[in-house]
Amino acid sequence: MAGIINWNELWKSMRSGHQRRGDRGEDPGSRWDKRAKKFNESVMQHTERTERQIAKLELKPEYTVLDVGAGTGRLSIPIAKQVKSVTAVDPSKGMLACLQENVERDGITNVTSINKRWEDIELGVDIEPHDVVIACHSLGMFDIQEALGKMDAASKRYVYVINFAGKWMGNGDGGLRKAISGEGRRFGHSTDYILLYNILHDMEIYANVDIMDTEFEQHYDSLGDAVDRWKEMRDIPEEKEDVLREHLSEILVKDSETGALSFTRGSKSATIWWQKNETTDMR
Ligand SMILES: C[S@@+](CC[C@H](N)C(=O)[O-])C[C@H]1O[C@@H](n2cnc3c(N)ncnc32)[C@H](O)[C@@H]1O
Repeated sequence: MAGIINWNELWKSMRSGHQRRGDRGEDPGSRWDKRAKKFNESVMQHTERTERQIAKLELKPEYTVLDVGAGTGRLSIPIAKQVKSVTAVDPSKGMLACLQENVERDGITNVTSINKRWEDIELGVDIEPHDVVIACHSLGMFDIQEALGKMDAASKRYVYVINFAGKWMGNGDGGLRKAISGEGRRFGHSTDYILLYNILHDMEIYANVDIMDTEFEQHYDSLGDAVDRWKEMRDIPEEKEDVLREHLSEILVKDSETGALSFTRGSKSATIWWQKNETTDMR
């Protein structure tokens, strides 16, 4: 039942600023290609968050798992060690190349990857239903209702969608927000879990939500690298680059040995999940 607010249209409008600046004729795959190596180095080192996320999943040795937007296999690889097989879908060749290296290094043989956007996957043609479907911080889709519906249709037992709760990077802006945007202007986008929850409710999927404390962490080669990535992530205009550079030079932490810079802030993450036969019976 659709309510007064069309949550999917709201999601689209919040994403559209992001898409306008982000796409520039590129698909999400090529955008992630550029970040793949750095992302891989960063996420594969920090296993505590991964272990806590996996502990929330219902996994059995006989299950098949579909990882939508699997990236470099941060979740696919440890999951593959507990289940029959994992299918990793991702539009980025660079991310999947890292996944392949990680799979080979760990001697894993039950992960298959498909290099496509989730929107372009045809159920019954590219993939058959899996026991468990997960999508973790990979909701780059414009029509999220359609994407969630396809995840539901692709699952035989459980669906888990993990997204941030509240501000994407935690509360780490300091004075940047005001300096960049001025008083009263909306800054960036906040397509957090609550939109997904409401969209699912309109689809008559009454999901569960677990909120978890986590850390947002990013590493940069140099101040220039950080400036470029924050500009892209936070939709910061060219003329505000100096303000951003100064702000980052104050808040980033330098590793005394490698000279690499990092940004770490407390954040909250939401696992939205539902069991297939519980909700489908009601629809
Ligand atoms: C932040 S990474 C997360 C990777 C992994 N799920 C994890 O938690 O480590 C986001 C991933 O989502 C993928 N992605 C973005 N848009 C997508 C889409 N439309 N369909 C499938 N994957 C997408 C990107 O290519 C990227 O690998």
